[in-house]
Amino acid sequence: MRSNRKAFLDWHIRPRMLRDITNRDLSVSLFGHTYPAPFLLAPLGIQGVIHPDAELGTARAASKMRIPFTLSTVSSRSIEQVAETMGSSPRWFQLFWPNDLDIMKSLVHRAENAGYSAIVLTVDTRAGFGWRPRSIRNNFYPFLQGEGMANFLSDPVFRVKLKQPPEQNMYAAISLFLQIIWNPGLTWEQIPILRNLTKLPVLIKGILHPEDARLAMGLGMDGIVVSNHGGRQLDGEIATLDALPKIIDAVEGRIPVLFDGGIREGVDVLKTIALGATAVLLGRPYIYGLAVAGERGVTQVIRNMMGDIDISLANAGEKSIAEINRSLLVPADVECEY
Ligand SMILES: Cc1cc2nc3c(=O)[nH]c(=O)nc-3n(C[C@H](O)[C@H](O)[C@H](O)COP(=O)(O)O)c2cc1C
Repeated sequence: MRSNRKAFLDWHIRPRMLRDITNRDLSVSLFGHTYPAPFLLAPLGIQGVIHPDAELGTARAASKMRIPFTLSTVSSRSIEQVAETMGSSPRWFQLFWPNDLDIMKSLVHRAENAGYSAIVLTVDTRAGFGWRPRSIRNNFYPFLQGEGMANFLSDPVFRVKLKQPPEQNMYAAISLFLQIIWNPGLTWEQIPILRNLTKLPVLIKGILHPEDARLAMGLGMDGIVVSNHGGRQLDGEIATLDALPKIIDAVEGRIPVLFDGGIREGVDVLKTIALGATAVLLGRPYIYGLAVAGERGVTQVIRNMMGDIDISLANAGEKSIAEINRSLLVPADVECEY
């Protein structure tokens, strides 16, 4: 997590002066949709443990600002509840591919039917959560209390597999959930199953190696998300910003490359996009907003981020997110040469 942040210090912005920056455009286009800013809300599971508004608070804030919200598979509110709250506002669904194919298909179909416009398959958690000493010390494992299971408790296919409904036997539901949620046997060979299942754009989240980016493209993925799960899965792994340039080179502009990990300020967004990403996902910042003030807190985080990106873009001498490129940046250690 610290490496993700630190990597931003390796790049400096070299601004241009006296260009007209009166009318600025923060919008980005992705899969045929135009969004008002170059960031989305990342999938963060089990939001009910942090605020009673849970994902519905996040969803309302995202709707108000027309920022896409990516709903996690392990959410505290269901696919349909979030969709109802969001109306026509943009939303994506993040898939943890359970080791039960019927349930996986059911989740994807429900997301399609409920108006989600992309599927984001997260692949860095197949074997389980990373070794998280603080979670272990604090006995923080919300699934054991049935938290984060809204999409399963409401899933017709999941329910059929239970002898008694969860309302009568929650223990059995938790037990089945824990048997199916991890999927260490999921490999590239199975990706065509998902590709053929839906017409929605499919992205793979958790890519850090250019070769994996090539494999994803070769299997018809519509996009990738360069991510290390915010540093929560494998301590000491490569910072996402350090992984980005080689992946951008491997992809050669053929599909959008999204990015997350350590985005905290407008300048972080500018640097990431200058290095070739199309858009970024925001994780912890909005969940801190939710923790402090529910929907209002998330709205404020989104507003602040939009304001920060806008003024930083202007101060960099640029007027459009779509137009910035690597020429905006210099490596921090060789800056003195310029
Ligand atoms: C509390 C928490 C829960 C998360 N839950 C999920 C999840 O359910 N699915 C997923 O794909 N990623 C999950 N992530 C990873 C985020 O989607 C994202 O990759 C990461 O938070 C980005 O880094 P940042 O927090 O530094 O912005 C979670 C991250 C956090 C901090």
